[in-house]
Amino acid sequence: MPYAEIPGLAASTASGHRGEFLIGHLAARPVIAMAGRLHVYEGHSLREVTRPVALMAGLGINELVVSCAAGGLNPNFNVGDLVLLNEHSSWLDGKLGAPPISFQRTNDSANESAAAAGCFRRSLSTCDPQLDAIAHQTAHTNGFELRRGMYLAVNGPNYETRAECRMMRRLGADLVGMSTVPELLCAASAGVRTLGISVVTNLALPDAPATADHADVLEVCERAAERLQQIVRAIATHGA
Ligand code: HPA
Repeated sequence: MPYAEIPGLAASTASGHRGEFLIGHLAARPVIAMAGRLHVYEGHSLREVTRPVALMAGLGINELVVSCAAGGLNPNFNVGDLVLLNEHSSWLDGKLGAPPISFQRTNDSANESAAAAGCFRRSLSTCDPQLDAIAHQTAHTNGFELRRGMYLAVNGPNYETRAECRMMRRLGADLVGMSTVPELLCAASAGVRTLGISVVTNLALPDAPATADHADVLEVCERAAERLQQIVRAIATHGA
């Protein structure tokens, strides 16, 4: 179902992002996949970026797995590595819209009401321990490495300068990317269990700052697809 057919959803414009929901079954469980995401660098607000996730939360999803391309700031990472996002920090512009209270199935409405009233909100963990364990077990069983790391979300669309790579690494980031954190936070605030996984598509090191063009990013993601599919299938099988 194209996003454009759903009132209130913005069309996706980034190359490689088709802009439609794929609805079906995986491992005998109903799933919705987003073929294409929305990004702040396309000119969307955080509210627009997270609206498809709020919609899926409203439809009653139990788990959300978000995958993304990222630059590797940690010198131990290699191009093609899969990294589970066990921590994050967001430098994205704008205010994150929470899903409507009626979408939420947790007792977190106090937190969201506080946010709606302009008060501070508690920060949410977006790395569900059970989904983390399933992902690592899958990697172990299938003989590939799954790393953990802190993901720093930035607006883009520029890749980072040498100085920014150095600064981000000093601040403790392992990965830098232009997506994912808003969707994870939106879902987590609705009581959905979440897991974020990055594919390291290029290195973003002070002495070798990112030069990856979008075609390289897509090619590395293509090579990571099978490992990601194994993880998503295992979560569909064992998740709930
Ligand atoms: N920086 C920001 N976003 C990215 C990168 C990067 O180096 N690679 C893929 N997405």
